[in-house]
Amino acid sequence: MKIVIVMAQTLDGKIARDAKHCADWTSTEDKKSFAAESKKHGVIIMGSTTFDTIGRPLPGRLNIILTRDPKRYKDKAQPGLLEFIKGTPAEIVQLLESRGFTSAALGGGSKTNAAFLKAGLVDELLITIEPKIFGGGVAITEGETLDLNLELLELNKLNDHTIQFRYKIKK
Ligand SMILES: NC(=O)c1ccc[n+]([C@@H]2O[C@H](COP(=O)([O-])OP(=O)(O)OC[C@H]3O[C@@H](n4cnc5c(N)ncnc54)[C@H](OP(=O)(O)O)[C@@H]3O)[C@@H](O)[C@H]2O)c1
Repeated sequence: MKIVIVMAQTLDGKIARDAKHCADWTSTEDKKSFAAESKKHGVIIMGSTTFDTIGRPLPGRLNIILTRDPKRYKDKAQPGLLEFIKGTPAEIVQLLESRGFTSAALGGGSKTNAAFLKAGLVDELLITIEPKIFGGGVAITEGETLDLNLELLELNKLNDHTIQFRYKIKK
């Protein structure tokens, strides 16, 4: 299964000011790109902390929320749209493959990105660089030591000040 991390960051590499900061600070063009990419795959995977900043399913795609405690969210679950799952990245991939998915968007946050990268399960990163500096905050990947090499696949200018890269992870 192909997995694509889809993320927006500041020029100083931050995806949020802190774990409670919702990713609504990005440009309209980035939001459109994020919606198009994640809908293309039909499924978006995210960690529970990121989901908590949004609080609702993203429409038009299956939302898989990773949590060690799915019971915590039993009142919110909507099978086929919003599912809370406990599992390792490899188990999540297996589950999605068994349901017929051939690719998925990985929508963060930092810890979830790190877990999938560490497991060697990420194929591409679609990264938007917004013209902002937070000076501190949550990095794009945290919690695991990594040493990955990338190849540039695409470079897009989303608007006058925002750029976007698509990188492939060399395996
Ligand atoms: N700028 C952007 O594009 C963008 C995109 C996404 C997120 N963000 C930001 O990222 C921040 C959240 O990132 P975060 O690193 O704190 O949290 P996160 O990766 O969203 O969620 C981590 C949580 O997911 C649960 N989890 C369950 N299984 C896991 C596994 N195998 N690997 C990792 N996590 C697993 C754990 O919570 P429990 O088990 O306790 O439920 C864990 O604490 C928010 O501020 C959000 O807005 C920004």
